[in-house]
Formats: sequence, structure tokens, C-alpha cells
Amino acid sequence: MANVAVIGAQWGDEGKGKIVDWLSERADVIVRFQGGHNAGHTLVIDGTVYKLHALPSGVVRKGKLSVIGNGVVLDPWHLVREIEAIRAQGVEITPDTLMIAENTPLILPFHGELDRAREGQTAVAKIGTTGRGIGPAYEDKVGRRVIRVADLADEATLALRVDRALVHHNALRSGLGLEPIDRDGLIAELREIAPQILPFAKPVWRELDQAKREGKRILFEGAQGALLDIDFGTYPYVTSSNVIAGQAATGSGLGPDAVEFTLGIVKAYTTRVGEGPFPTELHDVDGERLGERGHEFGTTTGRKRRCGWFDACLVRQTAATSGMHGIALTKLDVLDGFERIKVCTGYDLDGERLDYLPTASEAQSRCTPVYEEMEGWTESTEGARSWADLPAGAIKYVRRIEELIGCPVALLSTSPERDDTILVTDPFRD
Ligand code: GDP
Ligand code: IMO
Ligand code: MG
Repeated sequence: MANVAVIGAQWGDEGKGKIVDWLSERADVIVRFQGGHNAGHTLVIDGTVYKLHALPSGVVRKGKLSVIGNGVVLDPWHLVREIEAIRAQGVEITPDTLMIAENTPLILPFHGELDRAREGQTAVAKIGTTGRGIGPAYEDKVGRRVIRVADLADEATLALRVDRALVHHNALRSGLGLEPIDRDGLIAELREIAPQILPFAKPVWRELDQAKREGKRILFEGAQGALLDIDFGTYPYVTSSNVIAGQAATGSGLGPDAVEFTLGIVKAYTTRVGEGPFPTELHDVDGERLGERGHEFGTTTGRKRRCGWFDACLVRQTAATSGMHGIALTKLDVLDGFERIKVCTGYDLDGERLDYLPTASEAQSRCTPVYEEMEGWTESTEGARSWADLPAGAIKYVRRIEELIGCPVALLSTSPERDDTILVTDPFRD
């Protein structure tokens, strides 16, 4: 048996959805364990595009079980809309194919309002969030005032939980100049949505324990990227959950030995959406070209992604904090035709060479990237399905990345299409 965790190794949008979908053919259960509908995972199967936000990327494969684990924050109204949209594309979703952990915290409308109100307040407070209430919902979880899926089953409990949350939120809202929350209206809305969510609600930890005992293959689907991790990311410009591989266990209810192979998803260059440091960011024609060729616009918010050269120093760091056994290198085709390609191998801080990004913001801002320059390749790698189809220049680039980050390539992706994927080492090795 081998269970695999898929983790974004940069600032998100590395192509996790495509790789999870590809790997899910080999898995029985696919589990989301953190984040929420701030994620945007794109799959392209025979030209049909599926955009998933809260649903695991395994849903499009028949006969697989998709699971939303307790580490996720879930907007029930969004989920219902997403299920409808995906069903309209011909995908079957039933309580036999989708399970939601009963202890999953809910994102309520006031979480989104608070998120957007704070973002709009002052430049100093702005993170560049997706505005979907992710941070405020996680705050309520650790503040012990969140409403969880199981609370939807009992009207008296639900009213009690709403009152508990409102004590905090109405005080906060008055400070921000927002109207108090309509308590009865909110309870009515929750009662109305409950019957659409509850049929999927299960004690997921038990189901996963059973699956593990039966030797079923579990695929953990990470959202965001390790540089957005609440502890190890570029704080405070991060998301509000742990993104790194350790979270796969706590966000699903399995022990730390549940993950046997951690696969980092690595884009062949770097992108970031929202505010925050980005040492290799480009503001020139090369950056424009990466954005255009890579279609770098957010799946969730449509925002233009910031683009830059590959930062081996940061990926070496995220490979360590997630204990990556291998990587899936994506979007190599976007680099086709570049005459010269740069890779960041470390930073210069006041004349001193660093092989990691310092934690303090002030030191980060004084770091300048140290680059290694490589010759590009003129041939196309788009749609390549075997090593033999890759030009020598591209192979050299891949090998150099492996060396610099200290982690081997297990998979290579050469277009958005599911099957334009090269398997080097099967992460589900038995
Ligand atoms: P995720 O959030 O990590 O799942 O990534 P997104 O779906 O937000 O962004 C990745 C984008 O790149 C999507 O539009 C994918 O269809 C696309 N993509 C994935 N792999 C490749 C690849 O190897 N080459 C190209 N050109 N596009 C890719
Ligand atoms: P996937 O799973 C890229 C970024 C936001 C913002 C910061 C905090 O598609 O890779 P949040 O709404 O989470 O509080 O926003 O995190 N962010 C992402 N960036 N890909 C994502 O998900 C992201 N999810 C959140 O842009 O900078
Ligand atoms: Mg995305």
C-alpha cells in the first residue's frame, strides 16, 4: 500500500488539480484536507475544462470516493452551486461518491463580508485574499465559535452556535461600521441549506481508518502552496491554514504514517497572486511572456498572476518543510522558445550568500536573488508524453532543477490535458 499527498511547492496554482486528476486513476479515495473554495483547480480532459474549488479533483473519475476532510472550511451554499455546475458537465455526485467530515467548519456569509471589509480598510491591512471568508472562518474555528457540519442536524444546537458566533461578530462589525447580523434570517438560511449538505456528512476519520485497514489507496489533495502556509509561508501574506504535508493527517483524521509519499507540485517558473514578497518577480518582457504563454490568470478570482523565474532556493525550502519524496514538474512547455532561462540558486543579503529565505520581512526585502543562467531550447515540448520527446535543453533544465532542490522528478506535465503527462517514478509504488 502507498498513500500519496500532493502539495503545492510554491505560491499555489502549480497544476495540482491536473496531477491529482491524473493520479486519481491509481487511487481509491481522494481527500481534501485544508483550505476551502479559495482554491481553483483546473482539469482538462479531452478538451473539456472542469474548474473545481471545494470539490476534490477526483470527482470526475467514476468509482472513486471523494472526501472533504475536517481541515477544510466549507461554504455550504458555494458547495451546492459547485455540485450543480459539475453535475451539469455530466459528473455524477451522490452520497456514495462524496463524503464531508461532520466536524468540518462552515464558512458563513458574514465571514466573506468581514474578509472583504478588512481587505478594503487600509493598504497596511491588505493581504490580497480571495475574499471568500477563509481567514475569518479559520479564526472562528480556533476561537471555538464556528458552526460545524454536524451542528446543522439539530435546530436547538444550531441556534445556540449562531448566538455564540454573533456575540463576537456583532461587536467586531460595529467597529468596522457594518450592520449587525440578522440572527433569525441566518438561522433560516442554514435550516434551508442543511438537507442539501447532511446526506454527505459522515464521521470521515472512521471511513478513512477503514479504507486504510483494507489497503485502499488514499490520495491527499493539497490546496494553495507551501509558501502560503500559515507557519512556513511568507507571513502575513499567506492563507489561514497549514498547507504543508503534515496537515494531510490532522486535516483528515489519520495518523502521520498515513502519508507514504509526498509529491510536491512545482511549476517550471514562479507565480503568485495577491500581495507579498516574491524575490524573482519579473517586471519586463520575460515576465509578460511567462504570463501570456502560461495563461496566468487566477481560476478563482480572475486576477492576473505575478510571474518570475524559477526559485530553486524556495522550492528546496518547501521540499524540506513538507518532506517531499519527489516532484511533479508542470508547465515546462511555457518555457519553450526562451533564449536564456534564469534560475535563482540563493540570495545575496548585504554581501552574504544565503541558501534560504530569512523569516524577518525586513531581511527578506533586502535579499536579492543570485541567478544561474542557462541556455533555453527552441523545440516544442508541448504535449510530450515521453522523455525521448524532450529536447536536450529541456532535459538539462529538469536535471539542474532536481539537483538544486535536492528532490527527483516523478512526473512531468507538458500541457493542461490530462494525458500530456510523463511518468518517471510511480508515487503509488507498492
Ligand atoms: P492548481 O491550483 O495548482 O490546481 O493550478 P490551477 O489550475 O489554478 O493553474 C494551473 C493552470 O495551468 C491550469 O489552467 C492548468 O490547466 C494549466 N496547466 C497544468 N499543467 C500544465 C502544463 O504542464 N502546461 C500548461 N501549459 N498548462 C498547464
Ligand atoms: P490553489 O489551490 C494561489 C492566496 C491569495 C492571497 C492569500 C490569502 O488554486 O493553488 P485567502 O483567500 O486564502 O485568505 O488568501 O492566498 N491564495 C492562493 N493563491 N492559489 C490558491 O489556491 C490560493 N488560495 C489562496 O491570493 O494572496
Ligand atoms: Mg489554482
